[in-house]
Amino acid sequence: MRKKITKAVFPVGGFGTRFLPATKSVPKEMLTLIDKPLIHYGVEEAIKSGMDKMILITGRGKGAVSDYFDHSYELESLLRFKHKEELIADSNRLSDNATFIYIRQRNPLGLGHAIMRAEPVIDEPFAVVLTDDVIDSEIPVLKQMADVYENYGGSVVAIMEVDKSQTSKYGVVEAESQDGKIYKINRLVEKPEPEKAPSNLAVVGRYILSDAIFKYLKQIRPGAGGEIQLTDAINLLAQDEPVYGLKFSGKRYDCGSKAGMLEATIAFAMKDDVLKRSIKKMCKNRF
Ligand code: UTP
Repeated sequence: MRKKITKAVFPVGGFGTRFLPATKSVPKEMLTLIDKPLIHYGVEEAIKSGMDKMILITGRGKGAVSDYFDHSYELESLLRFKHKEELIADSNRLSDNATFIYIRQRNPLGLGHAIMRAEPVIDEPFAVVLTDDVIDSEIPVLKQMADVYENYGGSVVAIMEVDKSQTSKYGVVEAESQDGKIYKINRLVEKPEPEKAPSNLAVVGRYILSDAIFKYLKQIRPGAGGEIQLTDAINLLAQDEPVYGLKFSGKRYDCGSKAGMLEATIAFAMKDDVLKRSIKKMCKNRF
């Protein structure tokens, strides 16, 4: 039997330049989708997928992220006094159901470099969650991926079809599939121009990785954008061990971009009766 995936790594050391000036003092992971920060959605997904150790790779100016998963005694006593305890319950529910481990990435040299920082606390297959990617799905995507890992072993990355013109925004795979859902990956390329892309199957921000990845992360040199790219290390891993791509069920929103965040905000608001009425009224009256 394969060991259950219990650890999820959250690289939260990036600068979030696409959301400047907000991200000058607010970590990108703390930007809110309706009423919860992005990191909340990612941690909730990992817990719902059976994971109970959250490893956050943080950096300068990211204190708000660790505060979010801590008790806020002043706020809690005020809310108790006002009989509004439920307002804080959501974030405490996450902290009560997992252990949080914080590791500093002193120089943000890229996603691969951030993942490498987790090596001292990992000696088994583990999950990686990029909180920019919020995925709305009936079964949490990490759970869908953990099920593939349980059946096939190796490593699993989440993939989706993108318009060929968009390949330079993603890691793109060369892969084969029997059933059109689970793919065996031969090769990955980070941010290829459309004419060089091996397919239109793009990697999105969910991974289950064999701990052998650390060996390859140490071998690679800075790649696309001068950063140490996780995709390049997974490409080397795929030459030696099976790496699968799962075309997951669910809708992914790129909340690392303004348009994606806006789209997610509207889609999530439309799931709430009160907000849905407000949006409909606003659209009718103003547009
Ligand atoms: P992005 O490429 O989205 O970079 O990183 P970014 O800095 O967060 O955002 P932009 O592009 O400047 O707007 C993908 C993920 O990798 C993390 C980020 O925090 C994000 O979750 N990351 C990136 C690190 O943890 N460390 C790094 O050195 C780079």
